[in-house]
Amino acid sequence: MTDTSTSKVSATRDHDPHLRRGPRGYALLPGGYGRSTYYTGAPSPYAIKGKGYRVWDDRGRELIDANNNFTSLIHGNAHPAITEAATRALTAGASWGIPNLYEWDLAEALLSRLPALDQVRFANSGTEAVMSAIRIARASTGRERVIVTKGGYHGTSDVALVPGGPSYTKGVTQGVIKDVTPVPLNDVETLREAVEAAPSEYAAVILDLLPNRAGLISLTEEFVRAARELCTKHGIVLIIDETISLRLGYGGMSGEFGVDPDILTTGKLIGGGFAVGAIIGLGELMAEVDPTRKSSLPHGGTFSGNPVSMAAGAVAVKLYDAAQVQRLNALGDAARASVNAKVADAGWEIRGRGSLLRAVPAGASKVDETTQHRLWWATYERGLLGSPANLLSLSTPMNESVTADIAERLADAVLEVANTTPRS
Ligand SMILES: Cc1ncc(COP(=O)(O)O)c(C=O)c1O
Repeated sequence: MTDTSTSKVSATRDHDPHLRRGPRGYALLPGGYGRSTYYTGAPSPYAIKGKGYRVWDDRGRELIDANNNFTSLIHGNAHPAITEAATRALTAGASWGIPNLYEWDLAEALLSRLPALDQVRFANSGTEAVMSAIRIARASTGRERVIVTKGGYHGTSDVALVPGGPSYTKGVTQGVIKDVTPVPLNDVETLREAVEAAPSEYAAVILDLLPNRAGLISLTEEFVRAARELCTKHGIVLIIDETISLRLGYGGMSGEFGVDPDILTTGKLIGGGFAVGAIIGLGELMAEVDPTRKSSLPHGGTFSGNPVSMAAGAVAVKLYDAAQVQRLNALGDAARASVNAKVADAGWEIRGRGSLLRAVPAGASKVDETTQHRLWWATYERGLLGSPANLLSLSTPMNESVTADIAERLADAVLEVANTTPRS
C-alpha cells in the first residue's frame, strides 16, 4: 500500500470556503468559480499544494491527483526538472514582445515525434489552437463548412461548441451552427454521405479521437482512416485534435493508428503545466499564418509562445519519452481491467485507452451531471481526485502500487454510487 492515506480532517460537502473569504464571498466570481469546468455540484475544495502524484486541499485532505489539471500534468505536480526550467525562464523575464529561443526547443521536441508534419504555431490553449486551425483550413480551401463528430470536444470557440448539441450552443449564431455538420461517432457511412453530399463546401473534418464528452468512447481506426481517405480525395483539411489524446502514443493516438492529419492541434501536457496550445501542420497550410507572406491570416496572442510555457513544455515533452508512454499506457490498462472486474456486476464499466480512464454506467453514451458529481464526491471522499466528469489521468510519478491503489478507490466509489442509483 502506498502512503496515500486520506485525512478526514474537516472534510464535509457543506464546507463553505466563502465564509473565510470576506463579506463579498462568491459574488467575486460567477457562481464562485474561476472556470465553469471546476463545478462538481457543491462548494469545491481549494488546492493548497501539490507534489508528484499528490495534492493537498484546504480541507486537510491528501489526495491522489488523477485530475492532473484536466490531463495536463503528465509528470504530476511540481516536477523538479520542469520547475527548474520554468523558474530559469521566469527569472529572465516572464514574457517579451520579441521571439524567444524556447519556442524553437518546444517546436523541435514536438516535430521530432510527428515526422509527417512540418511547422508549429503556438497558442495559449487547446481552444485557441482548434479555432486557428479551422481558420487556416478555411483560408487555404476557400470553403466554410466543417464536419465534426457528435459529442467531440474541441474547447469553447463558437464552432467547437456545436458538436455538444443545443445545450452548448446558447450564444452561438445560427450562421455558425449551419456551417457545422455533426456526424455520429464511428459511423463511416454517415460520414461518407455527409462529405459526398457537398464535397466542395467542406474546409475541414475535425476529429477528437477519444471524446470524453461522449463517454470516453474511442474513435475506431476504421473511422479515422475513412476520414483521412475522404479528406484526401476531396481536398478537405483533416484536423486531428489531440489536446488530450497526444499522451496515448509517442506520436499521439493518430500515430498509434498510423494516420497522418494535415493539422494536429494540441495543448495541455505540452506546456508542462503552463498555458499552451499548438497548431502543428503541413508547411503549405501553415504558410497561411506566415507573416512574411502577403495577406496572411492574423494570428497573435500576447502570451503565445511565452518563454515560461515553452521552456517548461520542452522539458515535459522530452521527459515523456516512448518508454514512459508505454509504461503509463500499461498501468492504465491494468487499472481498467482491475476496476472493470469489480464493477461489472453493478452495471458499470471503465472506459478509456492507455493512461486515460473513466467510469460510466455500462453502455451509456451520456452520463447525467448528477451521477457524475456523485461519483466525483465519492472518489474525493476516498482520497482520489478526478475531473468533474470523472476522467482520470495517470502521471509519470505513479507506479504499479499507486495505480492499484487508484483502482481500488475508484471501484469502491463506483460501487457506492451504483448501489444508490436506480438502474434505468
Ligand atoms: C480534445 C480537446 N480539444 C480542445 C480542448 C480545449 O483545450 P483548452 O481547455 O486548453 O482550451 C480540450 C480540453 O479538454 C480537449 O479535450
